[in-house]
Amino acid sequence: MNGIKVAIDGPAGAGKSTAARMLAQRVGYMYIDTGAMYRALTLLALREKIDWNNEKALAQLIRKHNISQNGTATYIDNENVSSEIRSDEVNRAVSVVCNHNKVRVELVKLQRKLASDGAVVMEGRDIGTVVLPDAELKFFLVASQIERSHRRMKDIEELGGDSAFESVIKNIRIRDYLDSSRDLAPLKQAKDAIYIDNTYMSIDFELYILEQLVRCREKQHEGKTT
Ligand code: DC
Repeated sequence: MNGIKVAIDGPAGAGKSTAARMLAQRVGYMYIDTGAMYRALTLLALREKIDWNNEKALAQLIRKHNISQNGTATYIDNENVSSEIRSDEVNRAVSVVCNHNKVRVELVKLQRKLASDGAVVMEGRDIGTVVLPDAELKFFLVASQIERSHRRMKDIEELGGDSAFESVIKNIRIRDYLDSSRDLAPLKQAKDAIYIDNTYMSIDFELYILEQLVRCREKQHEGKTT
């Protein structure tokens, strides 16, 4: 059994990373976090003092370095940058860096290569629409802005930080707006994606649904390929 390609898209804070990572573990697939790849490029641009608006130079950076992702860790030329790509500086710059056509063309190429053998759960904003339009199974995960803000507050508190609810929800609203209104590969549900609102769902229940659907689609896929 080769395994299928599973695409997971949705807004920031909808629990995509957790769901994708745990689903991949359960079904024995590789997990790829594409947001981390945009973050790694942003970190490189900050380190090399490349203007965030210099599309050509940013695309060249991707060709010059080796950005890789295996779900749990992100590397630039074999250096593990998993923590550094979550810094405030990267958070601020990444939505500009990811909004360049040449950048997306290069990173999408890498992402398709990573998924080419199947048995993969790939998570992002444009996986079902642009990166893997032929994925056998697509999910669009959402939760209300209030719920996503509560989850974000919990994450911040667990890391020992402190933040006002108003500023967290404002941030979520800004990110939703930037993700869905940009010209290139905006956040959008693919026509054939399954819409899952997990606002009132436990992670266990959500994973149960996702896993059952993967198992079902694997069987259909097996039937087609044997
Ligand atoms: O999921 P995240 O917050 O780590 O994503 C970081 C940024 O990258 C965010 O601005 C959305 C963008 N992104 C994208 O444009 N396309 C993807 N496939 C994944 C993330």
